[in-house]
Amino acid sequence: MNKQQTTRQPHPSLTGGAKGGSLITIAIDGHSSCGKSTMAKDLAREIGYIYIDSGAMYRCCTLFALEQGLISADGTIDEAALEARMSEIHVSFQLNAATGRPDTYLNGECVEQRIRTMEVSSHVSPIAALPFVRAAMTAQQQAMGREGGIVMDGRDIGTAVFPDAEMKVFVTASDEIRAQRRYDELVAKGQPADFDEVLANLRERDRIDSTRAVAPLRQADDAIVLDNSHMTIPEQKQWLLDLFHKKTHPSPSL
Ligand code: CDP
Repeated sequence: MNKQQTTRQPHPSLTGGAKGGSLITIAIDGHSSCGKSTMAKDLAREIGYIYIDSGAMYRCCTLFALEQGLISADGTIDEAALEARMSEIHVSFQLNAATGRPDTYLNGECVEQRIRTMEVSSHVSPIAALPFVRAAMTAQQQAMGREGGIVMDGRDIGTAVFPDAEMKVFVTASDEIRAQRRYDELVAKGQPADFDEVLANLRERDRIDSTRAVAPLRQADDAIVLDNSHMTIPEQKQWLLDLFHKKTHPSPSL
């Protein structure tokens, strides 16, 4: 993993946090396309924490496999070849000054757009189900979050990557609403999109992600559920901030 390039600028209100002044770890997990990344990025920016998009890391592994010809036309993955080449996959994040959000880099090249295509989406869950892929990415994620002060979103952050995270949120929304959000996002980026294909893809990813043997998608026992089907972005941002303040400034009477 390349050196983390997004900078941490702790917010002045963060002193006296849940760990007696230290920065906490925030895990945001949930279903495909439920807006976790938007929420997590906005929260991290607001509180001066580092944001890590763990899904982008699995998408980079998938893009690498596709570009290296390790996934055949029928979707079969050359697992032995991918495992042998895992050490060639270096993912990093760099703050984009124009958007104020981190872009994803694969081996030094910005792949932020290329990892979000339907082609990558349609192959990412089988790649993310491979135990050696998960082991490599989980180790990198744990190294990035060692000092706390991090918001990480994904599928297994509160259950497998940071089971001791002080704040865990499990996000969901109805299938149709999630598909509409992802469809709108693709259209806004000028990428080809078909609503039914997007809906089928997110259902299939949820199925594979929830049933895989290693670190399946599931709500951690101590996670708080957020169904954001009918929430606006400002509303969900406020909900998260309120929870963050409760976690870092617990009421003495509670
Ligand atoms: O943004 P979206 O919901 O489409 O997905 P993502 O967060 O970019 O993640 C893409 C895929 O990576 C998921 O469908 C999972 O298969 C996999 N993933 C995972 O297995 N574990 C994570 N912690 C994050 C993502």
